[in-house]
Amino acid sequence: MSFEPFSEPIYVTRPLFADLQDLHPLLEDIWESKILTNGGPKHQELERALCETLNVPYLSLFNNGTIALITACQALNLSGEVITTPFTFPATPHILTWNQLTPVFCDIDPITMNINASKIEALITDKTSAILAVHVYGTPCNVEHIEDIANRYGLKVIYDAAHAFGVEIDGRGIGTFGDISMFSFHATKLFHTAEGGCLTFNDKSLKSHIDLLKNFGIKNESEVILPGINGKMNEIQAAIGLMNLCHLEEERQRRAKIIDIYREELSQVDGITLLETPSNVRPSYQYFVIRIDEDKFGISRDELHQQLKEYNVITRKYFYPLCSDYDCYKKLPSADPITLPIAHKVAQEVLALPLYGQLELESVRTICHLIRSFSHVLLRSM
Ligand SMILES: Cc1ncc(COP(=O)(O)O)c(C=O)c1O
Repeated sequence: MSFEPFSEPIYVTRPLFADLQDLHPLLEDIWESKILTNGGPKHQELERALCETLNVPYLSLFNNGTIALITACQALNLSGEVITTPFTFPATPHILTWNQLTPVFCDIDPITMNINASKIEALITDKTSAILAVHVYGTPCNVEHIEDIANRYGLKVIYDAAHAFGVEIDGRGIGTFGDISMFSFHATKLFHTAEGGCLTFNDKSLKSHIDLLKNFGIKNESEVILPGINGKMNEIQAAIGLMNLCHLEEERQRRAKIIDIYREELSQVDGITLLETPSNVRPSYQYFVIRIDEDKFGISRDELHQQLKEYNVITRKYFYPLCSDYDCYKKLPSADPITLPIAHKVAQEVLALPLYGQLELESVRTICHLIRSFSHVLLRSM
């Protein structure tokens, strides 16, 4: 079977673009209200709607997920060292640095690729104030084990749930675990507001505190009571969010069909491992990630990434390089590769395949056939 490259690039993701007409009435409301930001009506409506969608008691919207995470560290008054994962997007350790906190990298679990909870305790010192764990690709961390450690050592827990929109464990919203969770609504996410994000939490008193922090700490006309930041989501972002919420289920179903095809076509391929969602977990549909075992598959992850590119299929090596290998972190004692063997192995194996609602099912089959053909070509030529 021979293949032609796709005539247009197939990207790893594409933002959801609903019908422009759906946005018009929402924009008309904004023009009529003459309110563009500072917690206007659309902002309030989206906060209420998202509490329901995410199954969380309290939520505060932000202009992006990174500022939300920076604010979460401030809200919890963290200091010293924070134990985190090297296998994540740069924002995760960077928000610690922006808070004068030191990231302490912990190795990851070989199956879930999340922080390995059983390796956390050995990294705790008298300077440790928190654990910043990431639900990588939307797979939940070992939340029970992390909670147990946090309780025993008096640590705070922040979850970077950027990939975990709508994830639930046994029907419980993923944003209700730990002290604070952050969701990103960046354009590349299942649910987006172009740029945006939120923090979720169970403690009611955090709501007013976080809302103050994201608005410069302004209490009223004559009092500024905290060194806050500008983290506010504006009304146009909130309108895009309200519109996209109406299309969320449809987008999920489209992605579920694509994932079914990937699973059907790739699960039996020697050298390819698929990431499984536990049966009690509602999946995120955020990424479809495979792992390549070069010895069994015949070519490396990097070669597969390159070969697919030649056919106009743009995949992503999420998350390579590891954060612990960035120049700004590699001198930290916890960044020593010897202490992070699993993270180093996994970062060489992972490849995110195209996944977005508008992706044609036929294209998904072709991508799978391409992947299989690369493996066979090499094995035949040996
Ligand atoms: C794991 C993770 N954390 C944090 C962020 C940052 O979120 P945002 O782009 O909304 O600032 C992202 C990226 O989108 C991410 O993937």
